[in-house]
Amino acid sequence: MAIAFESLDSDCAGRAGKLTIGKKTVRTPALLPVINPHLQLVTPKELRQMGVEALITNAYIFSQSQQYRELALAEGLHKLLDFDGVIMTDSGSFQLSVYGQVSITNTETLSFQRDIGSDIWVPLDIPTSPASDRETTERELAVTMQRLKEARDVFGSDAPIAGPVQGGIFEDLRERAGREVSDLGFSFCPVGAVVPLMESYRYRDLVSVVMAAKRTLAPSACVHLFGAGHPAMFALATAMGCDLFDSAAYALYAKDGRYLTSHGSYRIGELADLPCACAVCRSHTAEELRTANDRERLLALHNLHVTLAEIARIRQAIADGTLWELVDERCRGHPQLLAGYRALLGHVPALEAHDRVSKRRFFYRGSESCRRTEVLRYQRQLSRLNLGKNVLVSFDGSRAEGFDDILHFKPPFGPYPAELRETFPIGPCEIPEWDEDMVRQGCVGIKSLADSHPDSRIVLSCSHRWEPVVRKELATMEIWHAPL
Ligand code: GUN
Ligand code: ZN
Repeated sequence: MAIAFESLDSDCAGRAGKLTIGKKTVRTPALLPVINPHLQLVTPKELRQMGVEALITNAYIFSQSQQYRELALAEGLHKLLDFDGVIMTDSGSFQLSVYGQVSITNTETLSFQRDIGSDIWVPLDIPTSPASDRETTERELAVTMQRLKEARDVFGSDAPIAGPVQGGIFEDLRERAGREVSDLGFSFCPVGAVVPLMESYRYRDLVSVVMAAKRTLAPSACVHLFGAGHPAMFALATAMGCDLFDSAAYALYAKDGRYLTSHGSYRIGELADLPCACAVCRSHTAEELRTANDRERLLALHNLHVTLAEIARIRQAIADGTLWELVDERCRGHPQLLAGYRALLGHVPALEAHDRVSKRRFFYRGSESCRRTEVLRYQRQLSRLNLGKNVLVSFDGSRAEGFDDILHFKPPFGPYPAELRETFPIGPCEIPEWDEDMVRQGCVGIKSLADSHPDSRIVLSCSHRWEPVVRKELATMEIWHAPL
């Protein structure tokens, strides 16, 4: 029953893959809707009909419930919930982080999760608050790691147990946790205690801790972002290499009268119209939805629809190789998401190692695009070009006598030989009129070419429009002017 993960397609550090638990499989990236047995706005059976392959519920609620405990033990979760897909159970750690205490031990919750037939069990990890100091974080991480070891020792290496990565806000502790979780053999690894970061829009910190965990987790580990519910951040998280999300947001937002969209949310009272193609939105006006008796359920259905559609869009973006474009688009919905996106661009050397070779296209979407993985990789690979003694880089296609090689120029990438005109990224790169940011980035490419070819004399030919920019970026380089 061990958990296996296979990456089938990738873009940036994002993967489209297949998670296998026993005979069941889940296509990733995937959303696991959170089910509360006491409060089912949408039933697991309806979720299945909406294409949901896995859900998550809280074992602690079942274990403490007079109504459900014995039933779950007697007939199992799948029958009780009427869901034949993958059911993941959480341990009660969330209650631990909110109430400070739970009346259950690590081995008790794992045994209970096993006994109710859960497909993925979660140990009693400690979700350390991002406000905790280093000493507390380190102490709590040690307890979490102890419990993960205990889980392995008691239940064996084949038990379908998740290995949460904790470590609070400290990058080195997240790195340590990722390494130790992988060394213990866990192949399903949630990144934990990020809910408070997301609730306070601290996406820059989210990027920092997720990237730290990813640095040391085994590349083959399936990574779950614990408690990530807003669809606007799924693309960003996927680009970092997160494969699974679980969301109570669809229901919590619905209870609160909030309407999700892929780039933000509205209070239902703010909507003049319903900008969505789902069945609820096409059969109600905004006013009807606002005043409906079953408003909560209708909102939950809509919110789920939007959330699942975003997952599908991300999978398509990975297939096309356009995940960066989607991240760029989504992260402009909120200034703090944009801060998270820019922080992610600071990790481009790490992401580049995972990025694929060829993509359907590269759409330039402003200065952030200059920092993408494809630009970094292209400029590094310029060192591989075989060049003669005298090389002209021509911005405007003008040709000149006396050069061994003539290269063209395409910002933000830089110089390219005619043979690469049609290939990725030069060919399928769609850029608007040149702007200073992209030309400056292209000059980085020229510099990289010059640095890696010290025996070549590189001469530039550019128009008067760009000469000042080029002179500033490449002060020592020769500029050639066509004779009048
Ligand atoms: N739900 C949200 N965050 C966490 C976490 O860090 N650990 C567990 N077990 N459940 C969570
Ligand atoms: Zn809708």
